[in-house]
Amino acid sequence: MKIVVIQGPNLNMLGVREQQIYGPMKLEQIHAQMKEVGEQNSVEVEFFQSNLEGEIVDKIQECYGEADGIIINPAAYTHTSIAIRDAISAVGIPTIEVHISNIHRREEFRKENMVAPVCASSIVGFGPFGYHLAMVGMIQIMNEVQAAQAAAQQQAAAQQQAQA
Ligand code: DQA
Repeated sequence: MKIVVIQGPNLNMLGVREQQIYGPMKLEQIHAQMKEVGEQNSVEVEFFQSNLEGEIVDKIQECYGEADGIIINPAAYTHTSIAIRDAISAVGIPTIEVHISNIHRREEFRKENMVAPVCASSIVGFGPFGYHLAMVGMIQIMNEVQAAQAAAQQQAAAQQQAQA
């Protein structure tokens, strides 16, 4: 099973940018912790960061047929990007949205959220720990999807046998 982690603009500046909001942890440290959770659960984890909207759309499209889950922090594009929302919708892969800060307690413009309606879940305001929660949540979702697929296959096989 594979999870792709997509990080939007300015998240490469974590550890430097507005530490009073985002904390001191660097993106590489967050990713190292997520990778560890992946390894503990035999899940491959791929990481991608871009400051460009189109590159994020391309990456989401690349996930089609390749990834079982997407964890995304679209950063500022959360509030503006119909293109990222449509890409998430198009690939139909379970997606969890993460925000380090509590976007509901900040400026008015951050309350607008284009991507939340097409995500399985949103995790906000837990700081970098939100990414850990997203890993645990995504592994749970992927296990449930796998179990449902196995059950459907079993049912189809049983139906075929009954008709034979
Ligand atoms: C953010 C919140 C966004 O409003 C902001 O533009 C970011 C980071 C967060 O993780 O809290 O860049 O997505």
